[in-house]
Amino acid sequence: MWFTSDNAGPAAPEVMAGLARANEGPARAYGADAIMERVTAQVRALFEAPDAAVHLVATGTAANALALACLCPPWATIYVHREAHTACDECAAPEFFTGGAKLTLLDGPDGRIAPASLAAALAAAAPAGVHNVQPGALSLTNATEAGTIYRPADVAALARMAKARGLPVHMDGARFANAVARLGCSPAELTRAAGVDALSFGGTKNGLLGVEAVILFDPGRSWEFELRRKRGGHLVSKHRYLSAQMEAYLTGGLWLRLAAQANAMADRLAAGLRGAGAELLYPVEANMMFVRLSRAQHLRLAAHGASYYHWGPEPGAEGDPAEMSACRLVCGWQTTAAEVDRFVELAAG
Ligand SMILES: Cc1ncc(COP(=O)(O)O)c(C=O)c1O
Repeated sequence: MWFTSDNAGPAAPEVMAGLARANEGPARAYGADAIMERVTAQVRALFEAPDAAVHLVATGTAANALALACLCPPWATIYVHREAHTACDECAAPEFFTGGAKLTLLDGPDGRIAPASLAAALAAAAPAGVHNVQPGALSLTNATEAGTIYRPADVAALARMAKARGLPVHMDGARFANAVARLGCSPAELTRAAGVDALSFGGTKNGLLGVEAVILFDPGRSWEFELRRKRGGHLVSKHRYLSAQMEAYLTGGLWLRLAAQANAMADRLAAGLRGAGAELLYPVEANMMFVRLSRAQHLRLAAHGASYYHWGPEPGAEGDPAEMSACRLVCGWQTTAAEVDRFVELAAG
């Protein structure tokens, strides 16, 4: 019963097979491999973006920080949700890679930026004189850190506000597959058509060993990205092994199948926990949920080997068995119905 993180899961067999196929003879290094040419074509077709630039990196933090560095100058600020990974979990990498840009933290329920919060921040920045930090870019996370999703209309509404001030829009799509699998929309509808300029398209949480694609819908930003990636130490020499993972991911809709499986297990878990009387803190729209359980439930689950993160201090063995505390539960493509059902059974007592 492993619900700590979708980073904890194994790589999908199709991905391992792709790697084995790529592991034959020599291949051009540093992204000039033949597989990468095919990946670029796959991404362009998937996003209906014939000119898009596609670059691979090994971590989501690198994808976000390098993409944002191409969108936002050092004297500007990036508008993000208060709980965004960029703000809370990237050790100031966006600030570092942009050369010192700020992050402006916005509010909104369920992990989504509220349009009113963005409007207020933009209004407060007008006019931005020489003494002030300039508005720089908007960054949305989809699926969000709360396990909710932005619909295409939500993205478009926020992007319109950003564009009205001339700001580019980035999307942190570490769980983009989970969002698309849930919505059933096209990848283009949720990004390019809604005003997104650059997407960090995640793979690591969804069956790859460790690859994220940065998709720049404006290819004019591509060379700068390449230089920043190299200078930042994120250009992988034996790049074919990154390309091979991404090629397998995009072939035959594997990326969506894996995400749909993770989402289905999250639905099953959420339904079971609701049935057991647990309180879910946000709507469950992707593969992750935040749940309040009693000390007695936490202890019983721990005693039977359930792994997950407590959201706040871990409840100790001593204390009121009825005291409630929150935890985060994440399903991956490999999560089984049996694991979910056992977890629910233990929570129900
Ligand atoms: C929303 C979000 N963005 C990006 C990342 C990527 O982070 P990493 O640099 O650990 O691959 C994560 C991983 O936890 C995430 O949850």
